[in-house]
Amino acid sequence: MAKYIIRGGKKLEGKIEAESAKNAVLPLLAAACLTDEEVIIKNCPPILDVVSMVNILKELGVKVRYEGKNLIVDASSMHSYSIPYSLSKELRSSVFMLGALISRFKSAEASYPGGCDIGLRPIDLHLAGLKQMGVRVGEFGGEIVCKADKLTGGDIYFDFPSVGATENIMLAAVLAEGRTVIHNAAKEPEVEDLQQFINSMGGKVSGAGSSVITVDGVKRLHGTEYKPIFDRIEAGTYLVAAAATGGNIEISNCNPEKISALLHKLCENTCKITLNNDIIYLKSGSVRKSFNIETLPYPGFPTDMQAQMVALAAVSNGISVIRENIFETRFRHVRELNRMGANIVVKDRVAIVSGVKELSGAKVTAHDLRGGAALIVAGLNARGVTVIDDIRHVERGYYKPEEKFRMLGADFEKL
Ligand code: UD1
Repeated sequence: MAKYIIRGGKKLEGKIEAESAKNAVLPLLAAACLTDEEVIIKNCPPILDVVSMVNILKELGVKVRYEGKNLIVDASSMHSYSIPYSLSKELRSSVFMLGALISRFKSAEASYPGGCDIGLRPIDLHLAGLKQMGVRVGEFGGEIVCKADKLTGGDIYFDFPSVGATENIMLAAVLAEGRTVIHNAAKEPEVEDLQQFINSMGGKVSGAGSSVITVDGVKRLHGTEYKPIFDRIEAGTYLVAAAATGGNIEISNCNPEKISALLHKLCENTCKITLNNDIIYLKSGSVRKSFNIETLPYPGFPTDMQAQMVALAAVSNGISVIRENIFETRFRHVRELNRMGANIVVKDRVAIVSGVKELSGAKVTAHDLRGGAALIVAGLNARGVTVIDDIRHVERGYYKPEEKFRMLGADFEKL
């Protein structure tokens, strides 16, 4: 199994470019199945989650190919609405296919989706929304079977602004009869990106980025060429890693406004942040200071940056208190960080982090995607050698981190 070997203690210095967002590309791939015309999604890194989603599409008869980093999707020969268990279990986003498949075939079959083991992650909101649109949903031994005579719009209220459920209902509603209004919708930038993508295909969606999204059903969608939004979590991970090493970096291809909750926390940590159009410059302060965080739906602090910030807090002066409000069991990185000399206590959903001067290298295991990223941040800070096992989790969401970190001067190998 592949591992990362990091010899820490080097300040990160230099420039990199942010990739397209994993969490934008995945629903876009589902949306691309709603037309028989060619769709080009530009600058898609072939990270493992994208590869898994492409495999699902291919299994359903969609032609997908890479040209450089562009993904070309042609769903004209799509013939199946049934996603096998072996593919559903690979990633959470297989659930988006329910909305797209029911829209296209009036039938969809899938297993309960996989993804990071960070909490219960039910899909009740997705299914309740689909039911309101006229879908009959059956659940048998982990399999979900959806059927509809026709899909009709209506008012859908979410108890919680779930990102995936919002996107799934948008996908189901684009070609449905009439108007669908999603209340208490997720406001994440990737939801806005899906709206822009659907509209570039001739859809009629408005309101994304606010808590009410309106979808007016259209008869058909056409092909498009589209560049997804930058990956705010990838960019954020590199910024946090630079801060943990006392480095200075710049990242281009960003929309800084979409990452401002993180940038404010990095300023509290005494980093100096400068913005110039799509470029974020980070200059570390001389002393790292503790900070408190509560993860919240956007525009609050993103849960996907919590683990990396725990690693930064572990080497920041004073006590940081970090509360995880979105997922129930998203602190599995803490045990690994403590093996590296961190001083962190977790009580229910709160991590109390007493900063130490520096960490020391150790053999550790990535248990999930962002938890793995936190171990990289820690390894870059640590004295000595850190070996990270099970890096397939990291490769689900980060494109060639070994090369990007080496470009920033890190001693970072993939074995
Ligand atoms: C998406 C992101 C993930 C991010 C998360 C929160 C993708 C591919 N993944 O995941 O990286 O961490 O948003 O920003 O975009 N919930 C329910 N019932 C449902 C759906 C969700 O109870 O039907 C709960 C979940 O268990 C969780 C919370 O709502 O506690 C947030 O989940 P949600 O916003 O749906 O996250 P995902 O779409 O899975």
